[in-house]
Amino acid sequence: MNKKWVLISLLSIGIIVIVIGLIGLNNDRNQDSSGDRSQIITPNNTIGVGSDRSVRMLPIPPLLKDENEDQSIADFNLVVQQGETNFYNDVQTPTLGYNGSFLGPVIKVKRGETVNIHVENELSDSTSVHWHGLEVNGTEDGGPHQVIDQGTLWEPSFMIDQQASTLWFHPHVIGTTATQVYYGLAGLMIVEDEFSDKLNIPKGYGVNDIPLIIQDKSFNKDGSFSYVNNMMNGVVGDKILVNGAITPTLNVSQINMRFRIVNGANGSSFNLELSDQTEFHQIASDGGFLEKPHADHSLFIAPGERAEIIVDFSKYKEGEVINLQSGNKLIMTFVVGGKEIDTTEIPESLVEIKKMDESEATSIKTIELDGMGHMVSLNGRKFDMNRIDDQVELGAIEIWEITTTSTMMGKMGHPFHIHGTQFQVLSRNGKEPNANEKGFKDTVFVGPDEPVRIIVQFRNKGVFMYHCHILEHEEAGMMGQLLVE
Ligand code: C2O
Ligand code: CU
Ligand code: CU
Repeated sequence: MNKKWVLISLLSIGIIVIVIGLIGLNNDRNQDSSGDRSQIITPNNTIGVGSDRSVRMLPIPPLLKDENEDQSIADFNLVVQQGETNFYNDVQTPTLGYNGSFLGPVIKVKRGETVNIHVENELSDSTSVHWHGLEVNGTEDGGPHQVIDQGTLWEPSFMIDQQASTLWFHPHVIGTTATQVYYGLAGLMIVEDEFSDKLNIPKGYGVNDIPLIIQDKSFNKDGSFSYVNNMMNGVVGDKILVNGAITPTLNVSQINMRFRIVNGANGSSFNLELSDQTEFHQIASDGGFLEKPHADHSLFIAPGERAEIIVDFSKYKEGEVINLQSGNKLIMTFVVGGKEIDTTEIPESLVEIKKMDESEATSIKTIELDGMGHMVSLNGRKFDMNRIDDQVELGAIEIWEITTTSTMMGKMGHPFHIHGTQFQVLSRNGKEPNANEKGFKDTVFVGPDEPVRIIVQFRNKGVFMYHCHILEHEEAGMMGQLLVE
């Protein structure tokens, strides 16, 4: 593995030199806005690598077993490991995974539960496991300050104190976050609560409640991943993987299906839509349910963001094939099966969301996301592990105004993420936020010339990161840290 990282670094340096020459006219390439809506992609024209065109079924990540019999305490074991994964033909790709060779299991927890996680690092490198979206103290957050050295154990323990939501976990070590995620380290955490229990929405995990971890990757001829940093928008791949399978297929009955979508890509945003432009309902954003389902026929999702949607397949006939696509890229395919009794519904309303009060904010801060590629900074500075950029009193409510600045290289959008909290979006470019941004979020896309104001409360102590979730930008320094005490 170590040799590989060296190689990757050398390669990257070479590419910096080339790309710096090419940078210039780029404008907002981060968004996948190539969407030609009339184009419907059939699985066969883009599926597969090389000559392999066989249908790949969508893998469903297993639920991780809670080793503690006590109803109010959960104990989970995670092993971070190296392995090999077969993505296409009969080649093996060197990969990383949690309790397996690629990606990881789903950690399902309940609000109010005490959770102990035993993380063993079997890699030949150090790693960390950051619980993205989880509201816990800084010492349990799994950021760059909780490095797990090779061969050692990390045992965070926390109480779940937030709404039902789809969170995720991934490494967060200085210098290797982006590559470790790219090679496969990412998993899902599902939080349930009394409201999610009561709602009559699809909730049979793996049956009508399906996670979709969407990533893009490139492969070398020998099957190994090709991690090529284009230095601009983060690493972009030419193959789409969902739950670790290249443009897979899922057989669905004519029922409501709930998808928990995670953009687990290093740098790519997706503009998801069904190939026939059918509307679906978004029911949750990063931090939990929206007040009411939001009907739309497309969903923009940036790196780090999550969205839960319900697709009503009862509108279709047996044998119909519908693709999930982003612009001209195929994401995955649904093949509609027979009718089935479905007692679930898309409710009129989901939860009540108390609007955070702007007048309670004790300070207004600005966050400037500058540049692209390696020339990135946050508020004019690059990340320094030994520097606390900001201090906040425990419990304080603040307004943050996040902007992107253009440079001589052009401008682009950045998905901005804060650790350890869920915030509300007050406005986007001076106007009401999008309908699907009115719930709680931990990651918000800030477009070029599109300042976003958020209101955030810091309810947990410790040191927390805030950064662009294009992992190559984060690693190049577009990150700061704040101390809550
Ligand atoms: Cu997804 Cu700093 O994290
Ligand atoms: Cu995070
Ligand atoms: Cu960025």
